[in-house]
Formats: sequence, structure tokens, C-alpha cells
Amino acid sequence: MIKPDGVQRGLVGEIISRFERRGLKLVAIKVESPSKEHLEKHYSDLASKPFFPSLIKYMTSGPVVAMVWEGRGAASLGRQLLGQTNPTASAPGTIRGDFCIDMGSNLIHGSDSQESAQKEIDLWFPNGVTEYQLDSAKWVYEQ
Ligand code: GTP
Ligand code: MG
Repeated sequence: MIKPDGVQRGLVGEIISRFERRGLKLVAIKVESPSKEHLEKHYSDLASKPFFPSLIKYMTSGPVVAMVWEGRGAASLGRQLLGQTNPTASAPGTIRGDFCIDMGSNLIHGSDSQESAQKEIDLWFPNGVTEYQLDSAKWVYEQ
């Protein structure tokens, strides 16, 4: 999910492009201004953290772009593309390492496992995703 700062800074295309170029397949996407309640559900595992109120305020400060990317090992691959939670610890070449500085404005969310990805897909895309064959896959994966 591209967070409100990523949308406002015009980084949607850049971020999508990085996922596409890696070989992942886009199967769902939407622009939305999610409610506080929706984001509290999304980040429910962090509810007891001291930064939780500021995280919810940040995440409701503007529209986000929610996406589902599919591919072999997509969750861990996605996290590699993102970099570390703290942008200053993120290597150049990662999204956070290239485009941001602050943990409270770190541009993008990525599911941290296949299990949380499934939970988050159910929350953000209750009508499911679009399954299709990506023709370039035969050039991305060893045949
Ligand atoms: P997400 O992909 O957004 O879930 O980030 P993450 O998995 O790298 O980190 P985590 O799930 O632990 O935290 C969720 C978000 O809360 C982070 O991306 C930050 O925006 C914010 N956050 C996490 N830890 C801190 C912190 O110590 N201070 C502040 N201000 N924000 C934090
Ligand atoms: Mg997380």
C-alpha cells in the first residue's frame, strides 16, 4: 500500500514500476481514503504501541493506493523492495532508502508474511482479486 505521503509526493508510478520491473504481477489496485476504523483493523497488531495514534493520524491524512502483487515469494520480495521500517537504515536501491527519511513518513506498507498478506487482502479487497496469466512470466521464471 502506498501511504498518503507517497501519493502526495507523486511516487505512485515510480513505486508501481519497481514492482513491475521485478517481475511481480498486479492483481488488484484501488485509490481510497480509508476510515480510522479500517486502519485500526489493518494495524491491529500495533494497537498497544505508543506511536499507534500518530500512525493512524498519518495513515488517515490522505488517500492511499492499495495493491495486491502476486509472484513466487511475493511477500518477502516486496519487503526487500521496501527496505527497513526506518528509512535511515534502508539501503539505497530500496524504496524507503531512495525516497524518504522519517519512520512516520515512510511511504509504503508491505505485508510481512504470506499469512498477513492473506488477512490484508481479505480486509482491503473483500471481492477478491483479478486472476490472469501474465505472458512475461515465462521469461521471469525458469522453464
Ligand atoms: P508497514 O509496512 O507499514 O507495516 O511497516 P513495517 O512492517 O516496516 O513496520 P511495523 O509494522 O512495525 O510498523 C508499521 C508502521 O508504523 C511503520 O511503517 C511506521 O510508519 C510506523 N512505526 C513503526 N515503528 C515506529 C516507531 O517506533 N515510531 C514511529 N513514529 N512510527 C513507527
Ligand atoms: Mg508491518
